[in-house]
Amino acid sequence: MADGIGKVTVIGSGTMGNGIAHVCAQSGLRVALVDLEESYLERARATIEKNLDRQVKREILSAGERDAALGRIEFTTDRGVGVEGSGLVVEAIPERAELKYELFSDLDRLAAPETILATNTSSISITEIAACTERPEKVIGMHFMNPVPVMKLVEVIRGLATDDATTATVMELSRALGKTPVEVNDYPGFVSNRVLMPMINEAVFALMEGVAETEAIDTVMKLGMNHPMGPLALADLIGLDTCLNILEVLHRELGDDRYRPCPLLRKYVAAGWLGRKSGRGFYRYEG
Ligand code: NAI
Repeated sequence: MADGIGKVTVIGSGTMGNGIAHVCAQSGLRVALVDLEESYLERARATIEKNLDRQVKREILSAGERDAALGRIEFTTDRGVGVEGSGLVVEAIPERAELKYELFSDLDRLAAPETILATNTSSISITEIAACTERPEKVIGMHFMNPVPVMKLVEVIRGLATDDATTATVMELSRALGKTPVEVNDYPGFVSNRVLMPMINEAVFALMEGVAETEAIDTVMKLGMNHPMGPLALADLIGLDTCLNILEVLHRELGDDRYRPCPLLRKYVAAGWLGRKSGRGFYRYEG
């Protein structure tokens, strides 16, 4: 199947985009990785190299396979060049609806009519993104998890108009990437964040109300529920601003106060305590 797609274009080379390019190239696909500036692409290339090297050290890949994978990735700031000859475009730019709408309308113009346009969005409506194009049946959610080379799940989200052929192609391609795809429908937060974010939010309420300290809350969930990470440590990993954004989408779109973001979460974000990326969230991080 990977052969049927031929080439994959990944738009946005940040945390998620470089991981998606990495797994596609590793499974034998040609990849174009697109970003706004050369310096971002250089950073992405360095990250992919570092992650491939780690796989060589762990004997998951040979040195030859690493070099071949890297050789399959073209790095470009030219969107038009990037999508040329591509069977699938996966968008991984920041989680802002207006940016995605503009990009999809442009991709619709640039890409061949048969090209599938996928988005890695965590919470924005696939149906609304699809409505910015003339090919809503070929627009789909392909929600990879962080870190992409390690995590097995791809949540495949059907917009209202997504057709069966597009869904089947993306499910099959996800398997060819060594992932386990799960098909879900387009609803705010899909399944992953609809279930995860209220749990994280409740953990923050428990902290705010003094039910227990940070470490205690996380230890209860790790040892008691067998979660590999506690919810507060996980929120720090995801980014507290991202968690707040997703909760706001759930609250607004579902119109139910059970998704109301905890005031303590808002306070942390307002203070710039965003988790690992800023060095401080519910925990402190050195360096
Ligand atoms: P990021 O901020 O690390 O990377 C975004 C990249 O897109 C940046 O390099 C930026 O320069 C580039 N970019 C912005 N506008 C562009 C444009 N018009 N054309 C080309 N490149 C452009 O963001 P991250 O974390 O990789 O997130 C990307 C998407 O993946 C978001 O929709 C996010 O919700 C979703 N996501 C993020 C996860 C995470 O744990 N970070 C997990 C699952 C999904």
